[in-house]
Amino acid sequence: MDNYFQDKVCVVTGAASGIGLQLAKDLLAARAVVFMADVNADNLARARDGLGRDNAYAVVTDVTKEEQVHALIERAAGHNGRLDILFNNAGIGGTMPWEDVTLDFWRRVLDINLWGVIHGLHYAVPLMRKQGGGHIVNTSSMAGLVNIPYQTVYCASKTAVAAIGECLRFELADENIHVTTVYPANVTTPIFAEAGAVPDDAIPVEEAVNIILDAVSRQESAVIFPEGSRLWAKSVQAVPEFREKVMLELARERRRNYQTKGRYF
Ligand SMILES: NC(=O)c1ccc[n+]([C@@H]2O[C@H](COP(=O)([O-])OP(=O)(O)OC[C@H]3O[C@@H](n4cnc5c(N)ncnc54)[C@H](O)[C@@H]3O)[C@@H](O)[C@H]2O)c1
Repeated sequence: MDNYFQDKVCVVTGAASGIGLQLAKDLLAARAVVFMADVNADNLARARDGLGRDNAYAVVTDVTKEEQVHALIERAAGHNGRLDILFNNAGIGGTMPWEDVTLDFWRRVLDINLWGVIHGLHYAVPLMRKQGGGHIVNTSSMAGLVNIPYQTVYCASKTAVAAIGECLRFELADENIHVTTVYPANVTTPIFAEAGAVPDDAIPVEEAVNIILDAVSRQESAVIFPEGSRLWAKSVQAVPEFREKVMLELARERRRNYQTKGRYF
């Protein structure tokens, strides 16, 4: 990835925490210009100041608000006259039994995880067309590749993000616009704060972002990681009987965990 990101103008949503913050850090270290966007103004200011880099710009943005995303994209593109890479990364988790899922929760998750991505695409794609190319990186999830019990709402949002990437990458391929969909399994970030613990198999955020940026620099269409989870997803997708068994067991295990520990793992 050596000089790939140098001088590239990047927008990272959800940049105040976790994967987004690490993306900003590594992009800045690779001498990119980074527009860090997040709805949490305090965390964003702290994150940006903590990086201590000249090429980092904090733009408080709620990705559920079309006009705020529009302003963010315009501001980034106005910096050097182009937007090279948009990381549609902002997102929230959502694992819970169906009986706890409210309509408000549906709206909130779809607003952030799906509409946030749609807003970014809506304003970035025409701009990238006009400038003759660009790169969109949408964060889905392993749960968007293999739908998992007790994650109905989250899976619906992340599967939609995956579908968008799969359609668009072919539609935009001949216009020099790359689309990468990111499918992480568990990564150690504050997204697990609500659960009160991080799953044992979570990988460090530094490792996750290294994998993501390497794939982006190669303009790969999908990045599914870590390797063990990628292979697991492949077998679950390829063998329907295996999927039936695994998912039923997982549903039962998660039900037990909710009853005994109050969380799904
Ligand atoms: N951590 C994991 O295990 C994991 C696994 C698969 C996918 N993901 C996805 O990776 C992305 C980043 O997650 P993370 O683990 O870094 O989480 P995180 O909670 O550490 O960070 C998410 C950031 O998004 C911001 N955000 C939330 N709503 C927003 C909004 N409306 N507008 C702008 N910003 C908003 C939050 O303030 C936060 O700073 C998410 O899309 C998540 O679904 C994470």
